[in-house]
Amino acid sequence: MQIKTVHDYQPAADLLSNKVILVTGAGDGIGRQAALSFAEHGATVILLGRTVAKLEAVYDEIEQTGGPQPAIIPLDLKGATAQHYKDMASTIDNQFGRLDGVLHNAGILKILSPFTHIESDDFNDSMQINVTGPMLMTQALLPVMQKAPTASLVFTSSGVGRKGRAYWGSYAVSKFATEGLAQVIADEYENTNVRTNVINPGATRTAMRAKAYPAEDPKQLKTPLDLMPTYLYLMGDQSTKDNNLCFDAQ
Ligand SMILES: NC(=O)c1ccc[n+]([C@@H]2O[C@H](COP(=O)([O-])OP(=O)(O)OC[C@H]3O[C@@H](n4cnc5c(N)ncnc54)[C@H](OP(=O)(O)O)[C@@H]3O)[C@@H](O)[C@H]2O)c1
Repeated sequence: MQIKTVHDYQPAADLLSNKVILVTGAGDGIGRQAALSFAEHGATVILLGRTVAKLEAVYDEIEQTGGPQPAIIPLDLKGATAQHYKDMASTIDNQFGRLDGVLHNAGILKILSPFTHIESDDFNDSMQINVTGPMLMTQALLPVMQKAPTASLVFTSSGVGRKGRAYWGSYAVSKFATEGLAQVIADEYENTNVRTNVINPGATRTAMRAKAYPAEDPKQLKTPLDLMPTYLYLMGDQSTKDNNLCFDAQ
């Protein structure tokens, strides 16, 4: 994938008005900030995640700041089946009639370990949550996205999804798979209303990063808010012609 950066992008205040955008992992970290920023720019945001209290806190924050009323979908990607995603897609279709954007952001980093210590349950969980879930969800959502004038599908990768790194085992493999999944969809839906791109957040001040680098000073890291120009660009109409690209958010 060709790499592109747009971190100097300055979004218009109403960039996402009238857009309906689903964000996975919307209760914490980068997904939480993306949901707040999309709503601030006018989007109706569908907040998907596994911890309802966190989703409700984001919901309340959007309402308090005067954003369009969001929706909540409590779903754990670990246990969700194809039928869960089909039911979810039909709920979205019935309620909104279209879907203008999906940010696949939810993800897990199990433990960093030597390759021979990777346990099959941890490997399977990483693949289920980081790859299989987003794949099945996308299959279910594409027909609803095709009802939008233009729709943006964004997958979240990582530096270790492009170059393998010692001890990053399951997570790195799952992010390589994410890039592959995005490329297949981008190629298949080229010249349709659905564009597919990948975002690499880069080192960002979140719970996941702190777990991977416990000794690091988080104040040295970019915050989720710092990344938002790229996330907003990808959901806005300026990126309509971008397809099959990888965006570095830093
Ligand atoms: N932070 C970085 O430096 C960095 C760098 C490169 C790539 N990334 C990628 O960026 C994305 C966001 O990362 P982050 O740093 O914001 O991580 P985070 O703070 O750990 O947040 C991850 C989010 O995903 C949700 N999630 C995890 N497992 C889930 C499941 N089974 N079902 C539904 N939701 C689930 C979490 O929900 P709960 O809050 O309920 O646990 C949380 O809201 C991830 O895809 C990550 O791989 C991050």
